[in-house]
Amino acid sequence: MPRYETHLLQPNSMFITPILSSDKLMLLPAKRLLTSDDIATLKRWQIEAVEVAGRRLTEAEAAQVLQAAAAQHVLTRAAYGKVNDYEKKRCFGFYIDTEVSIRSLAETIVTGLRVEPEKIKGMVRRLVEEIRRSRDVYLSIIHNDYGKGEHLYFHILNNMILCLTIGVSMNLKQDELINLGLGAFFADVGMLKVPKHVRDKTRELTDADLNLIRKHPLEGEKILNKWITDYEDSVIRMTVEHHENVDGSGYPYGKSSHEIHDHAKILALADVYNAMTKKRAYREGKAGVSVMKDLILMKDKKFDAVSLKTFLGVMSVFPVGTFVKLSNGSYALVVKPSAGDPLRPSVKVMFSETYARLEQPVLIDLRGEGSTPDAVKIVGPVDASVLPKVDVVEEL
Ligand SMILES: [Fe+2]
Repeated sequence: MPRYETHLLQPNSMFITPILSSDKLMLLPAKRLLTSDDIATLKRWQIEAVEVAGRRLTEAEAAQVLQAAAAQHVLTRAAYGKVNDYEKKRCFGFYIDTEVSIRSLAETIVTGLRVEPEKIKGMVRRLVEEIRRSRDVYLSIIHNDYGKGEHLYFHILNNMILCLTIGVSMNLKQDELINLGLGAFFADVGMLKVPKHVRDKTRELTDADLNLIRKHPLEGEKILNKWITDYEDSVIRMTVEHHENVDGSGYPYGKSSHEIHDHAKILALADVYNAMTKKRAYREGKAGVSVMKDLILMKDKKFDAVSLKTFLGVMSVFPVGTFVKLSNGSYALVVKPSAGDPLRPSVKVMFSETYARLEQPVLIDLRGEGSTPDAVKIVGPVDASVLPKVDVVEEL
């Protein structure tokens, strides 16, 4: 394989295949611009030479790759360009930008290169501030398919948002919140070691695929061990234990309830919730409340009662940003949870019985409806795909 001395590498070059170390560790993915920072990092790590199987792209080809990446970014941003309210727009911008940071940090870390721990902590710290400031906007964002890029990075971000939402509601201290966010970030970084064709598979996974995927907590641990002096034990425990089940049926170790770290239990719930509410090529996403019911059915198997109670208390039975059918036949969007009354949130009635969009949507605080026989109440969740398309964040 062609070999290049590190000091002879040129900034702003791009190769058609990944750049590897001499022991075949991926240092930079294919078609990624090699910057002077990257070269400096290679030197700092005393990597004297690299190997690249494929040819170097011409300047015009490299420009084309960069243009395509920029266009993808613009396309994603267009989804929130329509949002009127400044705060919601700002949150959307932050959400999209954070996904880009997660992508770049995760891809760097997985190559074996060190990222300043403070860089990742800073990202988590900003996310904590955002959740404290605009929790409901972020919850509505994660219930909608705005993520147009690779699924894995949005999944990591959504897990971080959900874990931090739960952590903030539990009044965890700032240090604990940072560790919770870090664990949610690192937990699925090991997935990058799973071949992309398995991660992106559009059909149901085979046993062989599952075996590969089940290695990701330990791959994550290996990656984290490089930072072991900088991170708390809970971050590593979250990474290793987020697929353990309380009845001992999980992986990689089959640990049971008392052996699993509390933060790993929070992440396990967030992870399953996010995975089940999202649409995949091989199945539809489920409405938030159906997933809530499924989670409750997993009590004492996958999750313990204490973590489930915390999760349901924070998310409410009908999560913000999901649709429900009301007892008067109309359809409404859940806009605000009611503290202490998870079955009666505030809703915005948007569609008639025949799915016609109401000209004047009506806001109802279902707690104020009382318990008379004709009081409006929720009869059940509705899958948003049966309703005319609306921009949920705009309506919130
Ligand atoms: Fe995972």
